[in-house]
Amino acid sequence: MEKLVIRGDRDLRLKGEVRVSGAKNAVLPAIAASLLTSEQLRLSNIPHVKDVETILTLIAELGGSYEIAGDTVSLRVPKIRSDEASYELVRAMRASILVLGPLLARFGKAVVALPGGCAIGSRPIDLHIAGLQKLGATISLEHGYIQAQADRLHGAVIEFERKTVTGTENLLMAAALAKGETILKNCAMEPEVADLAVLLNKMGAKIDWVDEDTARVRGVKELGGATHDIIPDRIETGTFLVAGALTAGDCLVRGIVPENVGNIIDKLRASGATVETEGETALRVVGSRDVRAQDITTSPYPGFPTDMQAQFMVLLTQAAGTSIITETIFDRRFSHVNELVRLGASIEVQGDKAVVKGKTPLSGAEVVATDLRASAALVLAGLVAAGETTVTEIEHLDRGYERFEEKLRGLGASIERAGT
Ligand code: EPU
Repeated sequence: MEKLVIRGDRDLRLKGEVRVSGAKNAVLPAIAASLLTSEQLRLSNIPHVKDVETILTLIAELGGSYEIAGDTVSLRVPKIRSDEASYELVRAMRASILVLGPLLARFGKAVVALPGGCAIGSRPIDLHIAGLQKLGATISLEHGYIQAQADRLHGAVIEFERKTVTGTENLLMAAALAKGETILKNCAMEPEVADLAVLLNKMGAKIDWVDEDTARVRGVKELGGATHDIIPDRIETGTFLVAGALTAGDCLVRGIVPENVGNIIDKLRASGATVETEGETALRVVGSRDVRAQDITTSPYPGFPTDMQAQFMVLLTQAAGTSIITETIFDRRFSHVNELVRLGASIEVQGDKAVVKGKTPLSGAEVVATDLRASAALVLAGLVAAGETTVTEIEHLDRGYERFEEKLRGLGASIERAGT
């Protein structure tokens, strides 16, 4: 088991340039889309993170093949050997559920382990299932596995009860090969969902957006190969922007789409940082030692992302005054709070709210990473905590951040990976 050892400094100012990788949450559905065609899918700008390895393993277990060259993966699934996504893989990564729609649509059958509990909340998948049933699938739950079957899916009008990212993605992929027209209402509008629709259209799907959260999918008989460049990771972007703001640094975050982080930029500016675009694909953040407290409520895109809540909380521990963070997406996404308190933060959780009292000096300690974004938050806190901070269980971090410590070192942080 590896850990990260950070030599923190309350006066640290991160400086320099960092390049953001491709979006984890865009590449996962894109890889799942390879199941929709017998032709080759070529995806570039893929991040080298553990979740990508996990979904590639799943594609291979199902009978597909892939080849990686640099940041490009080429995938082919001419036929399948198995239609089952094992509990082992689904437990390792809930996004494995993304194979359900494509397998069902192309092969008429899918067996996918029901994801169990999760560190950040209960995370049911009832909306994926209800949507697929509306497309004509017969679905039952047996021995912990979702058993789904359909001769050929057919179009339907589906309104999601609440916005779901992977739910929308599963339904877009399934409807792409269904007979007739599907209308998906109240779709998640995250850029990763839009990116998947772009890829599917390149493969021959007929998806258009009737309005910003309603998709019309005219089903086609088959889909073909495509080449696609994965969009930059907006959560990694936001994480480095917060790192710059937190350390009163001056950082240029490159290779990004500034419009996709609008709400994060607004909150950073409100907290006292200067954030400016540099050309079309970079943002410069200049932090201030006078961080202002503010309230944040997470909500679906284009609202403030739940995936940035933990990192922003760290910034608010250094703000003058009290901030209230309300988490509306997941019911248990405050596991980083107790660890931040070990570093000296003053945070109290009251139901779906975390009350952060700033400005507390942080001091290094050993802390445990509990989920992906919590891990990034603990690393950020360690940067400005006096003395040494050790973050253990960083396999969570490695699921979604590519070379995180190396990129931070490039900005002047003192951080090393070590075995335990
Ligand atoms: N929900 C239901 N029923 C469903 C599906 C979702 O009640 O059938 C609820 C969830 O419990 C949650 C809310 O709807 O309360 C939104 O969940 P959503 O389905 O949108 O989440 P997800 O698709 O499982 C994706 C990202 C997460 C990100 C969330 C929210 C991927 C692979 N994962 O998860 O990313 O937090 O959307 O934006 O795209 C991360 O990268 O760290 C991460 C957790």
